Amino acid sequence: MVLGVTSPAGTKPLTARPGSAVALDRVTKQYRGGGGIEEVSLEVAAGEVFGFLGPNGAGKTTTIRLLLDLIRPDTGHISLFGLDVRRDSVAIRRRVGYLPGDLALYDHLTARELLTHFCHLRGGPPWESVQVLVDRFDLDLDRPIRALSKGNRQKVGLVQALMGQPELLILDEPTSGLDPLVQQQVHAAITEAAEEGRTVFLSSHVLSEVGRVAHRVGLIRQGRVIAVKRVDELRDRSLHLVDVQFVDGPEPAALATIPGVGTVQQRGDAVHLEVTGSLDPLVRQLSRYRLRDLSVREPDLEESFLNLYEAGHALT
Ligand SMILES: Nc1ncnc2c1ncn2[C@@H]1O[C@H](COP(=O)(O)OP(=O)(O)O)[C@@H](O)[C@H]1O
Ligand SMILES: [Mg+2]
Repeated sequence: MVLGVTSPAGTKPLTARPGSAVALDRVTKQYRGGGGIEEVSLEVAAGEVFGFLGPNGAGKTTTIRLLLDLIRPDTGHISLFGLDVRRDSVAIRRRVGYLPGDLALYDHLTARELLTHFCHLRGGPPWESVQVLVDRFDLDLDRPIRALSKGNRQKVGLVQALMGQPELLILDEPTSGLDPLVQQQVHAAITEAAEEGRTVFLSSHVLSEVGRVAHRVGLIRQGRVIAVKRVDELRDRSLHLVDVQFVDGPEPAALATIPGVGTVQQRGDAVHLEVTGSLDPLVRQLSRYRLRDLSVREPDLEESFLNLYEAGHALT
């Protein structure tokens, strides 16, 4: 018998899915009165930043609370690091940093008292490591929480989630309601965590935001995950949006016959075209006319995702 290869009868393997930090398998949770999530399956690899995108009420917070074993699914299975979230909740908790969406802090404490308290609860990451986070977020530790702005409270929440350098960060709408400067700091902290090899699962209702920090994006609507895409795949679509202002141009309808040109619309002084694939045929045609202005841009992430969604693409 080779030690370490065969496990004694009856013991379960420690890691059900090596390499996956988060795995939901056909998870359903329905609240009385409707709402919840249905048959959600997702897998997030270790080291990946996963953006969980959806409008309000879509089921993001429900999913996140299920991941943390704060609520239990009706059916389906959830594991973190290959460990069952229910059976192994104690072992998992030490490896996860969590920023809730509805962050409730003890108002009468100062940020220092609160963070010290969290530090003890976590089994004591050294204070110096917490101080590094405090410095980077430029947090005033000696004011009572109740005297802090929303942005500064959220920073306290973030320091609490990041302290001890957990392998997995679960952040529920971490930038919601924050001013752009603090949003940037939050994005930087996420990117940095990713660079250090941590896994990040963050929810948001703003695609441009998750597109900036995430490797993959999952879209949830009305409790169902309807698409999961790599962000570079979204950006990579060969669609271009072209606006042309002619000095003397053709009838817009004539442009619609050019290979690759889809939609053609007159928008004020300009003609707006959506071009798939090579721009070459269009450019050749345009060279016959005198132009006042020409702009070509790629669709932003929001437009790409909506196109994808509306086109009813298969889920991956
Ligand atoms: N504790 C609860 N009891 C009953 N319904 C709930 C509860 N929490 C959420 N819901 C409902 O479930 C749906 C999903 O909510 P939620 O997961 O909070 O969405 P999101 O975080 O995407 O905004 C909503 O329709 C919401 O009203
Ligand atoms: Mg929510």
